[in-house]
Amino acid sequence: MKKCVLVSGGAGFIGSHVTVELIAAGYDVVVADNMSNCDMTCFEGVKKITGREDIPFVKMDFCDMEAVRQLFAAYRIDAVIHFAAFKAVGESVEQPLKYYKNNLISFMNILESGCPNVLFSSSATVYGEPEKVPVTEQSPRQSATSPYGNTKQICEDILQDTVKASGGKLRGILLRYFNPIGAHPSALIGELPRGVPNNLVPFITQTAIGKRECLSIFGNDYPTADGTCLRDYIDIVDLAKAHVFAVRRMLDDKMEQGCEVYNIGTGRPVSVLELVNAFEKVNGLKLNYKFAPRRPGDVTAIWADPTLANEKLGWKAERSVEDTLKAAWAWEKHIAGK
Ligand code: WQD
Repeated sequence: MKKCVLVSGGAGFIGSHVTVELIAAGYDVVVADNMSNCDMTCFEGVKKITGREDIPFVKMDFCDMEAVRQLFAAYRIDAVIHFAAFKAVGESVEQPLKYYKNNLISFMNILESGCPNVLFSSSATVYGEPEKVPVTEQSPRQSATSPYGNTKQICEDILQDTVKASGGKLRGILLRYFNPIGAHPSALIGELPRGVPNNLVPFITQTAIGKRECLSIFGNDYPTADGTCLRDYIDIVDLAKAHVFAVRRMLDDKMEQGCEVYNIGTGRPVSVLELVNAFEKVNGLKLNYKFAPRRPGDVTAIWADPTLANEKLGWKAERSVEDTLKAAWAWEKHIAGK
């Protein structure tokens, strides 16, 4: 019988790409989302890409334990991938309680469901400003620089502790994403930030399409080769595939510890300016940008050592940053109706 995976927050950017890859890998999927930070564009795109009109969709809030109980009573769920959370770093600083309540209660309710396999969407933000790069899973977590980042660290601890106390009944995987960028090659799903994008690539594509006047590059006086920050930009389809490898490890009983942690990155540092120049080159356009003061809270450089994920999950990032930036631009043109 096909195994069934619940994708919480599955109508969003990462959740929709993961749903596509899970279905392609032969899993049944249930998508649940409270639609607080997205519309149905990506879920409709998932149905077109997979050719599946029958993917169950449940509109619900994971902070509502009764709704969570009803969901698990309605579907035989073998594993959960939990994306449902607020994720705007700046907003979390202005409204910390909104973030702690939503991100922690929703995750604890998922664990209360009793589902034996839980994959949590964590973030490289837990490493803060690393002393040493590339970072491995053993690199120390630094104290979070935002309530958003703190909710990621707290949820990691909640999962680790709940797995330990479960006597083997619960298995967990933490995937620490670096910087997810790009869109599905079909241009039917991608990132749909609400309002002014915080993240670099959607701001680039919106500037290129004319929605934004000018990209500000936050700081070119960092101690790096070109003065701009270094990040590990991971293609969204590569990232989505990592979830299939992780779910397979849990459901095929290949786990070696109750709770395992993996860095999901390319291992390749790319600077902001390199990314901007690559975007211009692969898409044959000139981007309007200027150098602006540093953004508070930004780390100078962080990129992954992805060896553990390569070896244990059998997963490796494959797409080039050029292909990723081409897909990001195709998506922006698609949503602009061009
Ligand atoms: C990348 C680089 C900016 C916008 C954040 C979260 C992290 C994860 C990914 C959720 C930085 C520069 C950006 C702009 C710029 N999110 N930049 N001009 O900050 O590395 O990570 O998103 O899990 O948790 O912290 O990503 O895309 O915001 O910035 O120069 O208009 O681009 O200064 O150097 P970040 P980002």
